[in-house]
Amino acid sequence: MPDFADFDTRRYRTVDVRTGYAEWLPTYETTVADLMDIPLLDALTTVPWPSIRSAVDLGCGTGRTGDWLHRRGVAAIDGVDLTPEVLAAARETGVYRRLFEADVAATDLDAAAYDLITLCLVDEHLAELSPLYREAWRLATNGGLLVVVGFHPHIIMASGMPTHFQNASGEQVAIETHVHLLSEHATAALDAGWTLAEMKERPVDDGWLAAKPAWERFRGHPLSFAFVWRKPSG
Ligand SMILES: C[S@@+](CC[C@H](N)C(=O)[O-])C[C@H]1O[C@@H](n2cnc3c(N)ncnc32)[C@H](O)[C@@H]1O
Repeated sequence: MPDFADFDTRRYRTVDVRTGYAEWLPTYETTVADLMDIPLLDALTTVPWPSIRSAVDLGCGTGRTGDWLHRRGVAAIDGVDLTPEVLAAARETGVYRRLFEADVAATDLDAAAYDLITLCLVDEHLAELSPLYREAWRLATNGGLLVVVGFHPHIIMASGMPTHFQNASGEQVAIETHVHLLSEHATAALDAGWTLAEMKERPVDDGWLAAKPAWERFRGHPLSFAFVWRKPSG
């Protein structure tokens, strides 16, 4: 599998997930681009959002995804994240039923408790995908769905850009970033038992370029992806 170090054009100082997101927190919601994941979530057709009884948002961060789920009518949403500071921010949104500090690959939450599991803009921080897909399988009810939305491996490699933020001193700081080809997602998910219900990719388009004109050279390149996986019932 590709190693991000072979593509890195920025050479920013790199920190681990907990350090990075704790430091990014004050500016996270104003700098993360909704255009990367929200249009993909809006475009999914296989998830019956308002009939979901119980959802868990893995890598919930400050609650952007939870807020979107809540507005789509998902009633009971739990959240899991590794970074205590972002969990405190998520708590303030009021959209989560319960919040847990844990790794998405080993949550300790009850098995077969969720008919929807989401993981948005998190996979590039995971060294391995198989533990995530196995843990999501353990958490899902029979017939349950897993939605994975991510920064596209193609654009990570083509741009050489890690997930990064500007800290309070003005330094650009990278957060540990891994490249996972879409075939790696497919293999890990299929090995865990999931079946593919839907897949979408979002290109760099006029909307994205209006917000980020410097990306013109990437016009048409895939920017982000969404998978919907289903745990077969029975
Ligand atoms: C880019 S944010 C995405 C947050 C939210 N889903 C959103 O779309 O705004 C990535 C989040 O994943 C969390 N994270 C990264 N690796 C994790 C892991 N192994 N287990 C739990 N949380 C993790 C980070 O703490 C951070 O809050």
